[in-house]
Amino acid sequence: MEIYDNPRHVEDTFNESNLSEYLLQAQWAEFVELKKTIAELYKKKKSPLRVLDIGIGDARILKHLVGIKEIWDTIKSYDGVDVAQNCIDISKKIIKDLKIEKKVSVQLLDAVKLKTLKKKYDLIISTWFTVGNFYPFDFGFKNFKAGYDMSTNDKFTIIFQQAYELLDPKGEIIIGSMYIDNEETRKKQEDSYRHFGWTVITNEKDCFTATKEGWWSQRFTKQRVYDYLSFIPKEKISFIPLDTYDYAMMVRIKK
Ligand SMILES: C[S@@+](CC[C@H](N)C(=O)[O-])C[C@H]1O[C@@H](n2cnc3c(N)ncnc32)[C@H](O)[C@@H]1O
Repeated sequence: MEIYDNPRHVEDTFNESNLSEYLLQAQWAEFVELKKTIAELYKKKKSPLRVLDIGIGDARILKHLVGIKEIWDTIKSYDGVDVAQNCIDISKKIIKDLKIEKKVSVQLLDAVKLKTLKKKYDLIISTWFTVGNFYPFDFGFKNFKAGYDMSTNDKFTIIFQQAYELLDPKGEIIIGSMYIDNEETRKKQEDSYRHFGWTVITNEKDCFTATKEGWWSQRFTKQRVYDYLSFIPKEKISFIPLDTYDYAMMVRIKK
């Protein structure tokens, strides 16, 4: 079962009134930076962009993009994938309500199978801590002991290897937000999850926070990003802080 197949995870984390200011403002900061990237890429390409959204969730980003005509007009097509049927159902309803079926398509797909898309994209996004949900294939919640070795993360790497392949030579991958790994951020994550009523099973030995209910969310350092994406030249990767208190960062990856 995937994290967001749990209806409680959908209800808790997609309900704005449940979210901490840290989480909410990371969404705003990420969106501001994302709009800048879209405008930049459009200016460079001089024609509308093909976008892929990995982990579209409740189509939050799509909704906001559609609402800004100047931005939406610079997008040629918007494909969304998600591993949870719940999220696909929510997204499909939104697409229908907004009458944007011509430009938008969503499908149930685990990002580890991205290469089956067989299409090129100008912009591949994965927003709001989604990439922190990509936990290693052999991770087990049942017999978990703190201090799990995260020097590699096979799922994270496999997903981005495939995303990089789907990227047009002039395109970019935007990892919308990642938690920055430090004690304060760890505590803020734990506070959020406890607020949702979940039971945290990790501690300061881990660079991710997991819960008994099956939640898993990783924190990153620049080095950890370089390590997991070692197949991408370092100079192609840049980091954008999303706040002044080391909570979240964006990663831009050029081809
Ligand atoms: C934190 S939510 C973010 C949703 C949305 N991107 C946003 O910005 O609001 C993470 C989403 O990624 C999806 N997801 C997690 N792992 C995935 C995977 N391996 N393949 C595709 N989607 C995945 C989840 O089902 C969930 O909808």
